[in-house]
Amino acid sequence: MSRKIILDVDTGTDDAVAIMFAALHPDLDLIGVTTVNGNVPLENTTDNTLRVLDWIGRPDIPVFAGLARPIARLGFPSAKHFERDSGDDPHGSALPIPEPRSVRQDTGAVEFLVETLRSATEQITLVPVGPLSNIATALAIDPSLTEAVDEVVIMGGGHAVTNVTASAEFNIWADPEAANMVLSAGFGRLTLVPLDATYQALITRDTCTALEESATPAGIAASRFISLRIDAYDGTVAVDDAAPVHDVVCTAYLVRPEVITTRSLHVTVDTTSPLTIGRTVMDTRLKSTQKPNADVAFGADPQLLADLLLDVFTRPPSAPATER
Ligand code: RIB
Ligand code: CA
Repeated sequence: MSRKIILDVDTGTDDAVAIMFAALHPDLDLIGVTTVNGNVPLENTTDNTLRVLDWIGRPDIPVFAGLARPIARLGFPSAKHFERDSGDDPHGSALPIPEPRSVRQDTGAVEFLVETLRSATEQITLVPVGPLSNIATALAIDPSLTEAVDEVVIMGGGHAVTNVTASAEFNIWADPEAANMVLSAGFGRLTLVPLDATYQALITRDTCTALEESATPAGIAASRFISLRIDAYDGTVAVDDAAPVHDVVCTAYLVRPEVITTRSLHVTVDTTSPLTIGRTVMDTRLKSTQKPNADVAFGADPQLLADLLLDVFTRPPSAPATER
């Protein structure tokens, strides 16, 4: 039986690859995608999400637009207004695939999350790979939603590696109060995939070439998106002609947990200090008395991740892409 998941995204090139992976992997049942302000403003993250699902022939997966701003910091803009060294918005606002034909649902993301989790008859996995504004708002409405979730898998944070500031990773920094709410919500299982892991799972230009040569819609799009990332990360990562594709590490982990290696730690987020706001404070002390609330990924396997992308994206599609 396939695993039911909801992806919460700020699409972005790496979100786009994660969406394609979740939508096309036979062991995953992507029951909905919720969008949030992040890499680009909400209007664009939603449009990009619809583009991706149409392009790979999965317009049946519903898309719900969520919060256009953080829960406590009114007016915080999206990532494209900030200089980052991460190259996560190398393409401007719109992904380089055709405009969507599909439209978002009338229901909002938070309403969808609350209603779906309240009425769930089997456990659902939440996979937030953008700022945590939607998830935190749903939990504020009903803290017992955690009971319907078997695991939450978050791309965010950084211990030795950061991007948006010297202290913080973007997804957590962009809505630190929301991140703290989610980390302390009492989920039965919470896996955090920070930059420390995603920067180890670099995808190379050679993998892009193989994806492109498959000539599938997903292969073509993944190659295009990852190539943009490689251009943007030029000279900033340990391997030439390679880049992290942060968010897909989370969806890959759902089907092959060994793609990451984790440590159980207590993690909280700084929401007050000017120099370190948005920092994930991970208690790595060997004799810490703080109860762990997260399994934090510190390692990731680049070869396994590349193999998974090639496996999923180069399969012949069951339906044609919606090019026009
Ligand atoms: O810091 C990397 C994260 O920020 C990724 O999820 C990227 O898509 C952006 O949301
Ligand atoms: Ca993202």
